Amino acid sequence: MSNTRVLINEEALQERIATLGREIRSHYGDEPITCIGVLKGSFIFLADLVRVIGGDVRVEFLGVSSYHGGTRSTGVVRITQDLKHPIDGQHCLIVEDIVDTGLTADYLMRLLAVRGPRSLKICSLLDKPGNREIEVPVDFVGFTIPDEFVVGYGLDLNELYRNLPHISVYTP
Ligand code: IMP
Repeated sequence: MSNTRVLINEEALQERIATLGREIRSHYGDEPITCIGVLKGSFIFLADLVRVIGGDVRVEFLGVSSYHGGTRSTGVVRITQDLKHPIDGQHCLIVEDIVDTGLTADYLMRLLAVRGPRSLKICSLLDKPGNREIEVPVDFVGFTIPDEFVVGYGLDLNELYRNLPHISVYTP
């Protein structure tokens, strides 16, 4: 695709995600984990991640819209779909595609913390610390990347490019 340049290829993604799955399982021991995928961006990552975590895993989805077109964050977080089940007493892991300004992750932490989870942590495939506006603890990170707009493997630009099997930098 003309406007994209591969940053992380398929093989590197799968290799890192397998390690991440082992790190996550070893952190929680034998305890069940509720993985909360943040839609839509995390859907491919979540599907690959839960298959390498092993053990007891529940899957929930939270629909969030934080971009309303373009490549810049508006800072406005809108819940478009809530969880289907209560999470009180459960080890919850928010699964994000990317933490950029941190506004979405911070909002989700505050939204879910009051529902009484036994623990609440964040796993993000990508971390763009160079663009952080609010400090947020990202407990499990796949890759730390420079402050560039990326697409693919679930991440979009105006709803396109999610189906690329790799992570690419988008240059307009
Ligand atoms: P934040 O609230 O700025 O941390 O951004 C969170 C959301 O913005 C992510 O879950 C993505 O959906 C979107 N986002 C941030 N950076 C990028 C990017 O480089 N490419 C695609 N989407 C992004």
